[in-house]
Amino acid sequence: MTQEELFKSLIAHAKEYGFIFQSSEVYDGLSAVYDYGQLGVELKNNIKKYWWDAMVRLNENIVGIDSAIFMHPKIWEASGHVGAFNDPLIDNKDSKKRYRADVLLEDYIAKLEEKIEKEVEKGKKKFGESFDEVQFRATNPNVLRNRVKADEVTTKMNDALNSADLEAVRQLIIDCEIACPVSGSRNWTEVRQFNLMFSTQMGSVSEDAGTIYLRPETAQGIFVNFLNVQKTGRMKIPFGIAQIGKAFRNEIVARQFIFRMREFEQMEMQFFVRPGEEIAWFEKWKEARLKWHLALGLGESKYRFHNHEKLAHYANAAADIEFEFPFGFKELEGIHSRTDFDLSQHQKFSGKKMQYFDPETNENYVPYVVETSIGLDRTFLAIYASSYCEEKLENGEDRVVLRLPAFLAPVKLAVLPLVKKDGLPEFARKIMGDLKYDVNCQYDEKDSIGKRYRRQDAIGTPFCITIDHQSLTDNTVTIRYRDSMEQERVSVENLRAIVEEKVSMRKVLEQI
Ligand code: GAP
Repeated sequence: MTQEELFKSLIAHAKEYGFIFQSSEVYDGLSAVYDYGQLGVELKNNIKKYWWDAMVRLNENIVGIDSAIFMHPKIWEASGHVGAFNDPLIDNKDSKKRYRADVLLEDYIAKLEEKIEKEVEKGKKKFGESFDEVQFRATNPNVLRNRVKADEVTTKMNDALNSADLEAVRQLIIDCEIACPVSGSRNWTEVRQFNLMFSTQMGSVSEDAGTIYLRPETAQGIFVNFLNVQKTGRMKIPFGIAQIGKAFRNEIVARQFIFRMREFEQMEMQFFVRPGEEIAWFEKWKEARLKWHLALGLGESKYRFHNHEKLAHYANAAADIEFEFPFGFKELEGIHSRTDFDLSQHQKFSGKKMQYFDPETNENYVPYVVETSIGLDRTFLAIYASSYCEEKLENGEDRVVLRLPAFLAPVKLAVLPLVKKDGLPEFARKIMGDLKYDVNCQYDEKDSIGKRYRRQDAIGTPFCITIDHQSLTDNTVTIRYRDSMEQERVSVENLRAIVEEKVSMRKVLEQI
């Protein structure tokens, strides 16, 4: 199965089992907006808790807030979003379809990369054991030609985008002979900048003065509350403020399921430090955040850092943690050293001081900020995609299993009476009535036990317990493990300890 087919199956699976639905599906859907279903919301809440506890509970110098989505419109002028939060757009005159100019070019480069990889695969097949990949990449004419082209287009694209030379971006699209995927023509308009913020009107004012924005990041809610939290929480630098919340961006190219959405959730933390100490903290947070990811157990090879060479005007260091999604390595989290840009801008635009008096140095200063910013939906997708597995069992049967980290699974324990009679349901309900206070349980008595196991495998439930006639006499049940499918007989009294030990978030938090 190709990665593309696997990705399609997991999108279908997410819908079939109540993890993720297309928004407004009965009205044919709303593009790039998704709803989380009954199991999706449980998984999402568990991820949020993992992030929140790692940030706010484990660090005495980090506190959380929950700021409003609507904020004073001047905030977005100060932050630079009104002026510069843009994507370059281009329209095809024949199909009337609109595209992100940079994405057209990125797709073109990705196709060249694909050609290179295909050539390498062909070489591997042809030469077998004696294949020397390094030498092949360095000498094969097809690989070399595509490599040169890919690098050249990448450089030209970056130069044009960084200098906001929209005509050069258009010329590159034309030079690369990129055609509209719908009309097949190369009849392009000029490239224009398109602001990504959604706006709406507040109150009865219909003029520009009443225009407010749906926040495109949660970070600004933290910046404008910096002094409130510092003073009321008696926080001493270095300290952090964390927040989880919705953000909105009018993404033009919205695709790859929940990877790029128009309404999504971010988990952001702004860490306020002394000027001059920001790079050391930036390095510390890079390491700490990678540890958080690795503790999920999805595999070290799935992650890599991408250090930004070209920095935004307000940053003096930036890196992404990229994850290997089914469609390749893509940004999952950003770690940015944002200098004193945001606080200084708010100081300038609001006319209010955004300074901290440092009792250790007897100085007043605008703190520097190191930000960690991770997409909740992208984390969900990373975990979901790495856990989704279609297996052929020894007996020839197929099974779909979601190998979710046990502590994140929406349902931790399924309680299954073997038959719907002879007092087994009552016994099962009693166990569930007790354990439901500790872990999320699901009761199921419908269909054969085999079918019920499959249903639980498909939603990632780490444990099933089966209650049979023996249970009534010796107070034992069969516990079945999702991953190994092994079963063992255990005493009901030991159940809580067995399950809790395996689904404990504490154990994971202790690793980070
Ligand atoms: N405050 C900094 C900031 O917002 P960003 O790189 O624009 O930085 C941070 O966004 C994270 O938010 C990204 O790494 C990604 O995980 C997530 N994110 C951004 N745009 C998104 C979108 N349209 N859909 C889903 N997640 C998105």
